Amino acid sequence: MLIRFSTIVSLVVLSLLLIGSGEAQDREDLGRDMKMMPPNGPFWEYGNVVMRRKSKKAGMAPVVFPHWSHRAKYTCRVCHLELEFSMNIGETGITREQYLAGKFCGACHDGKTAFTVQSGTAPNCDKCHMKDTQPLEKRFNEFAKGLPKSSYGNGINWSEALVNEMITPINSIISKRTDMELPNKLKAPIKMKSYSQRGDVIFSHEAHFAELDCASCHPDIFNIKKRGTKNFDMGSNISRKYCGACHMMVAFPMNDCSRCHMVAAR
Ligand code: HEC
Ligand code: HEC
Ligand code: HEC
Ligand code: HEC
Ligand code: HEC
Ligand code: HEC
Repeated sequence: MLIRFSTIVSLVVLSLLLIGSGEAQDREDLGRDMKMMPPNGPFWEYGNVVMRRKSKKAGMAPVVFPHWSHRAKYTCRVCHLELEFSMNIGETGITREQYLAGKFCGACHDGKTAFTVQSGTAPNCDKCHMKDTQPLEKRFNEFAKGLPKSSYGNGINWSEALVNEMITPINSIISKRTDMELPNKLKAPIKMKSYSQRGDVIFSHEAHFAELDCASCHPDIFNIKKRGTKNFDMGSNISRKYCGACHMMVAFPMNDCSRCHMVAAR
């Protein structure tokens, strides 16, 4: 793992240096960014959220929440909008009392939709409070088998899987949801000029709206005015800001240059 990590970091440093940029980052900045660069771990671990603080206090094993298994069944908006999970790690502050009352994990882990959180004759505590993560890794390998591949993150091309209906996540679990249409003027992708010689970045509201809601990005991550977002560059993307808020944590990571820099070099 160490070898892979350093290889990728040096490749990225090299490519950033080679393609250069109008306002080249100085070495110190770049060095700092590269320390934070990192979704270079094993595919099955990318996007797993480990929650240990409260568990540890109570003498329980840490909880491992895998995004990969849940996102195949539910869109991001189900959890991050309807169920009010935060996208800032630790911020939700889940307690046993809350989930036993049907909030957060307990909204689904009720013995009907998914295995229950309740104690009983055959409790499932260790399915979430994992002493051993090997079974989860094994399930990932089975799960990933039939899905389209990519080079980074989960090693799965989630966009392709979604478009080809190889996964069909549910977009709402509350009964009286009123569907919002994407306004027509947002249907055309935004072309973000970049001075990278790789080419411009294309951002599609439509593709993102399939899984996310306006509030996932506006106003906390992006200004609602085109080119209104300040200090929006690769340095901050790599530091998990802006696009990197998702594209370093759950969606394909920043290493995968050409999936964003799509338009051929000028
Ligand atoms: C089944 C519920 C569920 C679904 C579906 C889901 N998430 Fe999450 N997500 C969570 C939970 C739980 C956390 C951790 C929250 C906390 O620590 O307070 C989280 C955290 C995150 C974080 C922060 C991760 C970190 O390591 O800092 C990001 C980013 C995120 N989710 C993005 C997404 C995206 C993008 C999707 C859709 C592709 C998605 N999530 C789908 C439940 C979900
Ligand atoms: C929107 C519904 C939903 C929410 C919210 C949800 N889960 Fe799940 N989860 C599921 C379903 C469905 C399954 C698969 C059903 C089963 O195996 O019983 C599952 C499976 C799992 C698994 C087994 C993973 C695997 O695929 O092998 C773990 C671990 C897990 N959930 C943890 C959590 C934790 C921790 C939370 C809260 C932070 C949570 N889940 C919130 C629906 C949900
Ligand atoms: C669907 C997943 C899931 C299952 C199943 C589950 N838990 Fe939890 N549990 C969590 C999450 C998430 C937390 C918060 C983790 C943290 O912050 O450390 C938590 C925290 C706890 C805590 C400490 C927090 C508090 O509020 O006291 C205790 C104690 C606990 N669980 C006991 C249990 C027991 C006992 C079982 C089995 C009967 C169980 N859990 C089953 C997800 C689960
Ligand atoms: C995944 C993140 C994301 C989501 C989800 C999202 N946006 Fe945006 N939006 C952006 C980005 C990035 C920009 C460009 C910001 C910039 O250039 O500084 C933008 C720009 C805009 C603009 C200005 C466009 C223009 O051409 O002037 C409007 C209006 C807007 N968004 C509305 C919405 C609405 C309404 C929704 C929900 C239907 C939504 N956005 C969902 C990321 C998002
Ligand atoms: C709130 C989370 C979030 C933010 C912020 C976000 N994305 Fe995404 N993006 C996703 C998810 C989820 C996907 C689905 C693919 C995946 O998960 O790997 C996706 C897919 C894409 C794709 C499709 C790739 C393909 O091969 O089809 C592109 C391109 C993309 N994002 C670019 C951007 C850019 C550029 C930004 C910043 C302006 C951005 N995204 C910000 C969550 C996000
Ligand atoms: C998730 C989407 C995404 C990925 C992946 C991505 N970029 Fe970018 N990149 C952007 C955005 C957005 C900008 C800013 C565009 C603008 O100026 O509006 C940008 C700008 C740049 C710039 C211009 C200088 C700067 O700092 O803004 C360079 C150079 C660059 N990217 C290189 C890369 C390299 C090398 C990779 C792969 C290691 C990469 N990018 C991967 C979205 C991405």
